Amino acid sequence: MADKKRLLTGDRPTGKLHLGHLVGSIYNRVRLQDQYETYILVADLHMLTTKNSPEDIAEIDKNAHDMLLDQIAAGLDPDKVTFYMQSGIPEIHEMYTLFQSLVTVPRLERLPSLKDMARDANIEMPLALLGYPVLQAADILCVRGDLVPVGKDNEAHVEITREIARRFNFLYGETLPVPDVMIGEVPTLVGTDGQAKMSKSLSNAIFLSDDPKTVEKKVAGMFTDPNRVRADIPGTVEGNPVFQYHDAFNPDTAEVEDLKTRYRAGKVGDVEVKEKLARVINAVLEPMHARRARYEESGLIEEIIVRGTVKARAETQQTLFAMKKAMGLTGVWNRIRRKVEKREKKAN
Ligand code: TRP
Repeated sequence: MADKKRLLTGDRPTGKLHLGHLVGSIYNRVRLQDQYETYILVADLHMLTTKNSPEDIAEIDKNAHDMLLDQIAAGLDPDKVTFYMQSGIPEIHEMYTLFQSLVTVPRLERLPSLKDMARDANIEMPLALLGYPVLQAADILCVRGDLVPVGKDNEAHVEITREIARRFNFLYGETLPVPDVMIGEVPTLVGTDGQAKMSKSLSNAIFLSDDPKTVEKKVAGMFTDPNRVRADIPGTVEGNPVFQYHDAFNPDTAEVEDLKTRYRAGKVGDVEVKEKLARVINAVLEPMHARRARYEESGLIEEIIVRGTVKARAETQQTLFAMKKAMGLTGVWNRIRRKVEKREKKAN
């Protein structure tokens, strides 16, 4: 156990997970959890960099709960994986502050991902958003992660983490591991509208928690080939979301090939393709519903995150201490802090 490499990844608590998350990241996490000592964080501080209205904030609690439950339902084992809440570890802020001297503003200003996020949120770049990758470096390095699986849009952020770790080691001596990034190979799953990638905010998502009837309804309403007005007209398979989903979720490749051949020849209707697809998706989700039911019992999810945060915090304190020691900060910082805390105790 001790010599396993560490994997670290996480998500902003923006809402429950859907099929896009499943193929984009969750399957990968499930597959890797035995091979790596896995840490998964709820990045609530990151969410605040673009979504910080009272309404957004009011959702953090429920979203964090739902996302954890979704991941466990999808097969992540809470006895193996350490789930932690970023905001539950104040030392992450401290680390973030120390890292801010190790990266330049122009370097961060050049990242397209941050500009995209500001544009999508309809805001001018807040300082916190510029610092987003630096905070991410603290998430990764606080538990000394070796491998960071993320989407393409986060690749440059992990590169910033690597630069910060190298810069730290160069200035103060070998202290931090330089993590590797792992980019998912899977194509982004399109939404049920066939227009944009699956996303809760676009109302084109099938959620992992959707019941069979809901899945049937959503699949029945899916976008297919707009030029195909009747079942006996040859249809296009390429770029057709119904077939993208069949490719992603239907284990019966012979059936998929048969449907595609008949679709191209105008010998199968959308209804049959969709009914088969709904059955396939429900078969994927069914075991998740069973696991979900086991963990839905009140307090269990909270216990998992508290337990994980305690563990991750202890790791973070170790890393932070090693950093301060390397920097020569343990003397004055710790002495003054100890005296302040002693005085405070006496005053109480
Ligand atoms: N930036 C990630 C996202 O797009 C979330 C995240 C925060 C993260 N900290 C991380 C991912 C550390 C990997 C490692 O939602």
